[in-house]
Amino acid sequence: MLPAVRRSPLPAGQHPGGPLTALAPMQDVTDLAFMRVIAHYGAPDYFFTEFFRVHAQSRPEKHILRSIDENTTGRPVFAQLIGEDLAHLARTAGELLRHNVAGIDLNLGCPAPKVYKKNVGGGLLREPAKVGEILAMLRATVPGLFTVKMRIGFEGTENFDRLLDLVNEHQVDLLSVHGRTVKEMYRSDVHYDFIAHAVSRVQCPVLANGNVTSAARAGGILTQTRAAGVMIGRHAIRNPWIFRQCREQLSGRPVTRISLGDVRDYIERLYRATQSPEIPEGSHVNKMKKYLNFVGQSVDPRGAFLHDMRRAQTEAELFSLCDRHLMAEPDREFSPEPYPGVIARPNCETPADGVDGCSLETITA
Ligand SMILES: Cc1cc2nc3c(=O)[nH]c(=O)nc-3n(C[C@H](O)[C@H](O)[C@H](O)COP(=O)(O)O)c2cc1C
Repeated sequence: MLPAVRRSPLPAGQHPGGPLTALAPMQDVTDLAFMRVIAHYGAPDYFFTEFFRVHAQSRPEKHILRSIDENTTGRPVFAQLIGEDLAHLARTAGELLRHNVAGIDLNLGCPAPKVYKKNVGGGLLREPAKVGEILAMLRATVPGLFTVKMRIGFEGTENFDRLLDLVNEHQVDLLSVHGRTVKEMYRSDVHYDFIAHAVSRVQCPVLANGNVTSAARAGGILTQTRAAGVMIGRHAIRNPWIFRQCREQLSGRPVTRISLGDVRDYIERLYRATQSPEIPEGSHVNKMKKYLNFVGQSVDPRGAFLHDMRRAQTEAELFSLCDRHLMAEPDREFSPEPYPGVIARPNCETPADGVDGCSLETITA
């Protein structure tokens, strides 16, 4: 017999009774500036911070705290932790609970070798017993919402059921499942059947994550998995209107059509929001290219925007090429799905040993 469930209610979504939407946590992406830009075009129901690293010397990173303390999106933000030491996880959760967080989320998915080799993130999926200890401790520490984001396994999926049972045993309030193993990184097919299995096995709501590319796909994935909602990462960088479009699709309303002119507006807004006097122009243009790698997948079927975008060195060059590609036919549709075969950086998904986390440097779509 499972223990009686003492569940705190989740924050209400914006479409009461409808499926939930969440922006997936993304290191170096889902900061305060990006959250505000996303909220401008239609906020998700929930935000998650990128992960706070937890170890003996760690203190919650100030720039990540800003996305909680200065959150003006009107939507709740969950604080994500990555770590394995029980005492330091408890200490950090306690510190974060003094801020205006919707809940504490545990990362059981990061696939970067430098991370999983420390036995944190996705590395923990190899050790269900250790996961059980961490869940027990965090459940005892967090009086409100305690949530988990996991992949379906490390190399294989032999521990999946055991991990799902631990989610039940420790009364996790919300489970986000990225339907790939750690070894599958970011580009393989997503195993939605495993997400459906999680939905049938756990008692808490599940968010389906992985390649939710459009509102139409969100509808199909929700039908297939019966999940309570979708969590969207890279495709929200490509298309920040996606959460609003999901709400429209899922409530049977017409889905807003996005034009290339709208995308020009998004790029300018993102540029200004992420700009700061300390960042030299060239570095900022380079950072913008990492977001634009995703945006470019829906601009034209031959990848001409992507090709030219990579060559921009200055702000003036960047906006001039945006005008060339986006304002020549501003009313042309920005494709709701990425164009097939338009891959931002085809050679760039090797699990680099030196990379300390999940970064736009290494992950494409
Ligand atoms: C640049 C980048 C950074 C990421 N950082 C995190 C992170 O800090 N915590 C986390 O749980 N997942 C992280 N992820 C994984 C995403 O949350 C998500 O699970 C994954 O991208 C699959 O969803 P998608 O297909 O919608 O992008 C990151 C992904 C990307 C692309």
